[in-house]
Amino acid sequence: MASTVSSSSTPITLPNSSIQTSFLPKTSQLSIFKKKKPFNFVSKKLVSCKASNGDQNNELSSSSNRFDRRDVLLGLGGLYGATNLVSDPFAVAAPVAAPDLDLCERSTVTSKSAGTIKVACCPPKLKDAIDFKPPSFSKIRYRPAAHLVDRHYLDKFTRAMELMKGLPEDDPRNFMQQANVHCAYCNGAYDNSALGLPNQELQVHFSWLFFPFHRLYLYFYERILGKLIGDPDFAMPFWNWDSPDGMLIPEIYVDPNSPLYDEKRNVNHQPPNMVDLDFAGEEEELSKSDLIKSNLSLMYRQMVRNRTATLFHGFAYRAGDKPSPGQGAIENNPHTAIHRWVGDQRQPYKEDMGNFYSAGRDPLFYAHHSNIDRLWNIWKSLPGKKRCDFPDTDWLDSSFLFYDENADLVRVKVRDALETTTLGYDYQRVDLPWLRYKPTPRRPGQGRGRHGHSHDHDHGRGRGRAVAAETNNAAIIRNVYPVVLDKVVRIEVPRPKKYRTRLEKEEEEEVLVFQNIQLNRDVAVKFDVYINDEDDETPTRPEDSEFAGSFTNLPHNNHHPGVKLDTNMTLPISDLLEDLDVEGDDNIVVTLVPKEGKGLVSIGNIKIDYIRD
Ligand code: C2O
Repeated sequence: MASTVSSSSTPITLPNSSIQTSFLPKTSQLSIFKKKKPFNFVSKKLVSCKASNGDQNNELSSSSNRFDRRDVLLGLGGLYGATNLVSDPFAVAAPVAAPDLDLCERSTVTSKSAGTIKVACCPPKLKDAIDFKPPSFSKIRYRPAAHLVDRHYLDKFTRAMELMKGLPEDDPRNFMQQANVHCAYCNGAYDNSALGLPNQELQVHFSWLFFPFHRLYLYFYERILGKLIGDPDFAMPFWNWDSPDGMLIPEIYVDPNSPLYDEKRNVNHQPPNMVDLDFAGEEEELSKSDLIKSNLSLMYRQMVRNRTATLFHGFAYRAGDKPSPGQGAIENNPHTAIHRWVGDQRQPYKEDMGNFYSAGRDPLFYAHHSNIDRLWNIWKSLPGKKRCDFPDTDWLDSSFLFYDENADLVRVKVRDALETTTLGYDYQRVDLPWLRYKPTPRRPGQGRGRHGHSHDHDHGRGRGRAVAAETNNAAIIRNVYPVVLDKVVRIEVPRPKKYRTRLEKEEEEEVLVFQNIQLNRDVAVKFDVYINDEDDETPTRPEDSEFAGSFTNLPHNNHHPGVKLDTNMTLPISDLLEDLDVEGDDNIVVTLVPKEGKGLVSIGNIKIDYIRD
């Protein structure tokens, strides 16, 4: 069993999960956190999702369709109207095709203050791509929590990173080459205009490609590290920022003499400072216990309340679509907040973690994304009927190119990424404390009561109080779009269904849809969304039911820097409206609070909808 897992962990088999082995930290390591029964279940779902991975017929038909479709698109001479085909249910399959490395171009990186630079992040084209075959392995390797690893593990990991940094510069497995993989896929290096699709660049963020792309990227990274130290069972660590003990930058990354160190990080965010999963560019004065509560409540909302594939993964993105249709819950937050929190604000482009082009240059990036990847597994294992991946073959057949541990160029599909165990790895089991942090309504007497949740955050905080006051003073508007977020905006949004039947409530999610959110890609943006948030002197926090979610943008660029990001967002509000007891109400009041990037965002429309997947 997991040879790489820290010897300081005690394997425990939980009664409710006969197939899973759990590793829980010693109680002393949970000391920051108030002691309760550790809650860590990864139970197998009672109702299984419509399986699609094994559907080989689909694979056959859609891969031949991919070429049909490309012909169709080319035949149209690159008409903009080609995107219309995508929403046509009779249209041929349209998975996003792997990029053509010969068409890769330098990326543009911009910022208002630092100007424009060109960055070369295209991979070398050494050979033709071969199709990926799932690996064979004799035992599952377990990725350990970075703050729990022992000396033996650290030595191995350090050695592997040293070797990766020491590879020849033009070896695609070299540390910088690997960092550039992220840059190329995320900063517009792959432009498909040459395929007859104007402005159709490849972007793996802001869509349903987010989780599978990063899973596969890390998978090859880990295989390369394993190969370099001659240990195919080597598993990379994850940054367990969803648990109090993991909320600091893990110690192994902060030694300046270690290859895991990166000097381009925010100097104020070294241990013992705790990460703020709701970070928006400025420090909040929160006590440690308030910060933990805020972080865990945010995790609860993102993981538990975003039940459908679209809510969790993000919007559909097919061949010929404009890039960046919309981020899923975890990508919006806390993913972006952590990038921002680690990135060095003094650097011209907020390097390294604070900009997509450079994020992969910080070894911490891979631990951060390993945790994101782990959360995908956990999301699918939470109880309930929903929480299934997309059965859509356009998603399953979308593909990417990576260099593997042998420096072979491999074409991998999303369907290869669905289960970590088919890739040979899994995660060390640790407590999931956020499952106990259900948000509660802030307005006294509202909803079902406050469950003992006391509003003990500091009433005197200047900035927060100013926001609360601004919120209360904002007039409520209706039907004024586009709305520019240069101040707090309150909008009344009608509910198409005042009452919903029990069946409707079970089968569909009431969601708040934001259409045509427009902004420049190179600015950091965060705005928060509160619902029916009234008459309180204190600012709304993630532990309040009224806090519906946030929109975020991490600075990046595309192939056409002049073209604004034009994206969408969907927030789940079923549970929230239940908490607030609004059954029967005609409208809700949506409060939009610009936290960062004030005045730089406009929203084309906001409406309520009901979705099933
Ligand atoms: Cu591809 Cu966290 O970014």
